[in-house]
Amino acid sequence: MRILVTGGTGFIGSHTVVELLNENYEVVVIDDFSNSKPDVVDKIKTITNKEFKFYEGNVCDKELLQIIFKENKIDAVIHFAGFKAVGESVQKPLMYYRNNLDSTLTLCEVMNANNVKNIVFSSSATVYGNPKGLPIKETFPTGETTNPYGATKVMIERILKDIYISDNTWNIALLRYFNPIGAHKSGLIGENPNDIPNNLMPYIVKVATKELKELNIFGNDYDTVDGTGVRDYIHVVDLAKGHIKAIEWVLKNNGIDAFNLGTGNGYSVLELVNAFKKYNNVDVPYKIVGRREGDIGSCYADVSYAKEKLGWESKYDIEDMVKDSYNFVKNSTLHM
Ligand code: UD1
Repeated sequence: MRILVTGGTGFIGSHTVVELLNENYEVVVIDDFSNSKPDVVDKIKTITNKEFKFYEGNVCDKELLQIIFKENKIDAVIHFAGFKAVGESVQKPLMYYRNNLDSTLTLCEVMNANNVKNIVFSSSATVYGNPKGLPIKETFPTGETTNPYGATKVMIERILKDIYISDNTWNIALLRYFNPIGAHKSGLIGENPNDIPNNLMPYIVKVATKELKELNIFGNDYDTVDGTGVRDYIHVVDLAKGHIKAIEWVLKNNGIDAFNLGTGNGYSVLELVNAFKKYNNVDVPYKIVGRREGDIGSCYADVSYAKEKLGWESKYDIEDMVKDSYNFVKNSTLHM
């Protein structure tokens, strides 16, 4: 089986390509390196000791996609490529809507024309907005998102549902990720944004390595265990393995469905910071500041549906997550 992975050198994409190669899938990757580095291609090959085909380019480029489908017999697609910074999406909504929607439409058109109708889409728990309860179930309402990035995820889910309604020979898995952190055990691939990070774990790591002075904790007056925000952090390798299960599921002609990929456990910001300090034996200075606009108090998944339908559940715990996140950044700074 040959899988096309769009955005395959990004944080989740690269870990998924590793798992696909480990499972002996043939892999074709397209990425424009807009939020990743070219050396990830070789690092994936080093980790797996396997080869895969790589095309540099943007998924909005229809001609390139046509060439890829002509040159490779693709059985299914995992679609990661897309912009993902929440704050930036508020500043540059046109850029986000153009890129994230255009790439998906172009991809689906070319898939349709080539009679490839199996797709796994990289969605997000952001589609639930302020969830109606906890833990979050796939059947909860979606759509009330607070930013353009989140809106693109909701819109793309809708587009894919409409495609399925028009032609039920498509098989579509919508994967709603909770908060991916951690990195591959090799320390070769992981998440290390160049700019000041928006997300919690990359920020904690940069404080631990003294690149940034201190962590700002956004609010300690939420209705949670210690007042700080609670999230469902999941190891990126667990998440990657969820994609293998989702690919198996679409290849069995199951139609369309949405799945939460999380652990089902919520940790507060302070719990995560304290685990990071304890297991890495490093200081992470922080101060409490006001709430961040658009944030919710708690968000964690009901993971029973993914377990039942995909036969998937997370394995790594918080200790693995904080150690692997730190190990990757220490390792990459060492080799710069
Ligand atoms: C955010 C996005 C979500 C996206 C996800 C990708 C928002 C509202 N949501 O989720 O759409 O899918 O990233 O990973 O932006 N925190 C701090 N200090 C920091 C950074 C974060 O205290 O410097 C806190 C936040 O208030 C929150 C928790 O850490 O309670 C996690 O934040 P973050 O990593 O940004 O993820 P989300 O906001 O859950």
